[in-house]
Amino acid sequence: MTVVGQSHELDRHSRGVFVPTMGALHEGHLTLIRRAKLLAGHVPVVVSIFVNPTQFGHGEDFSKYPRRLEKDVELAMAAGADVIFAPDVATMYPPDRTIETPPLPEVAIAPKLEDSFRPTHFAGVCQVVARLFDLVKPRWAIFGEKDWQQLQVITAMVEQQNQREPSRWEDLKVVPHPTVRDRDGLAMSSRNAYLNATQRKQALALWRAMSEAKQEKSPAQAELVMNTILEESGFVIDYAVVRDAATLMLIERYDRPARALIAARLPNVRLIDNAPMGGTP
Ligand code: PAJ
Repeated sequence: MTVVGQSHELDRHSRGVFVPTMGALHEGHLTLIRRAKLLAGHVPVVVSIFVNPTQFGHGEDFSKYPRRLEKDVELAMAAGADVIFAPDVATMYPPDRTIETPPLPEVAIAPKLEDSFRPTHFAGVCQVVARLFDLVKPRWAIFGEKDWQQLQVITAMVEQQNQREPSRWEDLKVVPHPTVRDRDGLAMSSRNAYLNATQRKQALALWRAMSEAKQEKSPAQAELVMNTILEESGFVIDYAVVRDAATLMLIERYDRPARALIAARLPNVRLIDNAPMGGTP
């Protein structure tokens, strides 16, 4: 087990399985690390822990985002991490160098979902993930379905870069992993730490909204059910929609894989979740 902060120390650990995180590790992250270990065989499992300032907007929770490196290292190690990369901001974004960030994929912007509410978010995510891929040089990278839109954006970015000659990340493969939930259905998230006991109960509305929406025959009816349940539960809704699972664009019928996508707010916390709809996987 190695903890490294400098990028050159990563050179010995390239072509492994990579799990990028912002720390405050919970069972969702640890499940991804265990999956990485299964996939890895003899190659290393690299976990990064970096709270990336560029993906937080003004007034968002960058400064209060939970940070606890020592405990995270312990947890990641127990789950199977071989190397922890915990860089500082200057290592990630050296002031004297420009680092190439790939163009923002269409799927980040066109659906007018997360990007409408957090306009700089996906640019920051692509910037940090591209930089991490450059440094870690993994063969596989595992991302959670919890952040469904992020997963589509990263997948598109990697596809774009793999089409280049030579491919920037040597045919890196993105591996999705299903959302890990608490027993009652709440998707695990580092931000659940912001919820008080009453809000923790309220937060179950996201799971209930999606579960009930699944019974409906059309995307429009499913959206109506979700919006009603979330409003009744005291949420301010950014969006509660059913979209094409891959392009995230509008659909009228369940004739292709569909996904419910929710972002909804309580006074001091914004929660996101998603689930397959219309009987699609
Ligand atoms: P973070 O929120 O720490 O999540 C790291 C990874 O864990 C992401 O791939 C996320 O989808 C996954 N994850 C989080 N909660 C999960 C859950 N309940 N079940 C399954 N997977 C879950 O996502 C980020 O960090 C950042 O944007 C990052 C990609 C690291 C770039 O800074």
